[in-house]
Formats: sequence, C-alpha cells, structure tokens
Amino acid sequence: MLNGKIAVVTGASRGIGRSIAASLAREGAEVIVNYISSEQKANEVVQTIKAAGGKAAAVQCNISDPVQSKDFYANIIKDYGTIDILVNNAGITKDNLIMKMTEEDFMDVIQTNLAGTFYGIKQVSRMMLKKRSGRIINIASVVGVLGNIGQANYAASKAGIIGLTKATAKELASRGITVNAVAPGFIETDMTDAVSESMREKLMEDIPMRKLGGTEDIAETVVFLASDKAKYITGQVICVDGGMAM
Ligand code: NAI
Repeated sequence: MLNGKIAVVTGASRGIGRSIAASLAREGAEVIVNYISSEQKANEVVQTIKAAGGKAAAVQCNISDPVQSKDFYANIIKDYGTIDILVNNAGITKDNLIMKMTEEDFMDVIQTNLAGTFYGIKQVSRMMLKKRSGRIINIASVVGVLGNIGQANYAASKAGIIGLTKATAKELASRGITVNAVAPGFIETDMTDAVSESMREKLMEDIPMRKLGGTEDIAETVVFLASDKAKYITGQVICVDGGMAM
C-alpha cells in the first residue's frame, strides 16, 4: 500500500511511535525512526522492521529545537530525495494543577508538542508543495478536545495541534497535500503506565468501551490516513478513543 514511500515518524523508539513506524514499514514504506536519546531502543525498532523484511533507519534529533529540526529534515530530504509521509508523534507530559504548574513546565510541553510539530510541518511543506503531494499526520489527544484536570499545558498543546492541523490543511489542500490529526484516547504505553491506579479507575468510567486502546489502534489509523484510501480526507481530527469524545 505504501511501497516506495519515505516516511518520518518522530519519537518512534517506543510506544505509539514505535507501533506507527512498524505498521508503515509493514505496508512498504521506508521509515526514518526518529529518537531523542534512546539510540539502543530506536535501533531495536529498526532491527525488528528489517527482520520483518522492511526498510528503516534510526536518526537522532531533538525535534523541539528549531535548529536541529531544520538540519534533521534537510538531511533526510538530501539523503532520501523526499519525504512523502510525516508523522508528528513525539510528545511529553508535565502534569500539575494549574496553580502549581510552573511557567517552565507549561512552556516545555508547548515547545515539544506544539512547536515541534510546527517545525516539522514547516520543514517538509516546501518540498511537498513543489511535489504537489504529501501526507502529514499529527498525533494530538482526546485531551486537546475535552480538556483534563492537571493537564492544562498538555491540553493546550494538543488543542494547538488541532488548530495547526486545520490551518495547514487549508493552506496545502490545493496542492494535493493532506494534513490530519489523530486524537488517541487512553492507550496502553509508558506514558499511561505513569498514571496512578485511582486515576486509571476514574478514567475507565469515561470510556464508553470500558477498556484501554492498544498502540496498534492508533498505528492502523495513521496507515489509513497515509494511504491512497484517504486521499480525499484533510483537516480532520480522528478520535481513536473507545468513544470518549462524542
Ligand atoms: P511515549 O512517552 O511512550 O513516547 C513519546 C516519544 O516521544 C518518546 O520516545 C520520547 O523520547 C519522544 N520524544 C519526546 N520528546 C522528544 C523530542 N523533543 N524529540 C524527539 N523525540 C521526543 O508516549 P506515547 O504514549 O507513545 O505517546 C506518543 C504520542 O501520542 C504523544 O504525542 C502523546 O502525547 C500522544 N498520546 C498518547 C496517549 C496515550 O494514551 N498513550 C493519549 C493521547 C495522545
């Protein structure tokens, strides 16, 4: 389905990003597995993809740094000739109640989640505009749609990603580039392992399907949006959340 396509997945050494990278590679894309510090884990993702007959390479970059981001995308375009699919997946949380949230924790989350996504889109858009094709998929969160106690910074960053997705989709639509967001609900990963048991029970009450999602639920949605099957879909936020946001 994605044979010959070059895909970049940010923050792909574990969790949802890892699963997205594996699924894109399974469909034939050559995947750049971005990581910030976990070189070994990123190499493991690459090895797993290669063992399954796919193509992948691990490339380090702190995507929240505009200078590093610029070099990262420029080097990939130089080495591979293009980027067909960009998945802005890297993200962090620094939770606290609004009164206790430090300015630093607020800005760190905005910088990684929202500005990092902006830098990526900015760096690939010129090349995609020239090519008149491309797929950009931003990983938002149901928290960006519904809000959540203790996550003002994270909710703001993810709501920002939704606005960024829609504005960019409008700008790029006439040139054959689609830009969509996937908003995961509560997915089993390292990020959600950190959630306390009492919080987990409370969250479960808010999930109509009464269960957590798997990383593959997000990955398969990304594969669909990256594929030709989704060629007439742009500017959308697809919630993959067991019915949380409705
Ligand atoms: P995770 O914490 O397991 O993975 C995030 C990855 O991003 C890590 O590998 C981390 O090293 C990387 N990363 C962080 N900052 C980076 C930077 N500056 N440069 C490059 N890489 C960086 O989290 P998970 O759960 O896999 O989340 C992936 C995405 O899905 C995130 O954007 C997250 O906000 C979003 N999400 C996750 C949900 C969940 O339930 N797990 C729910 C809703 C959204």
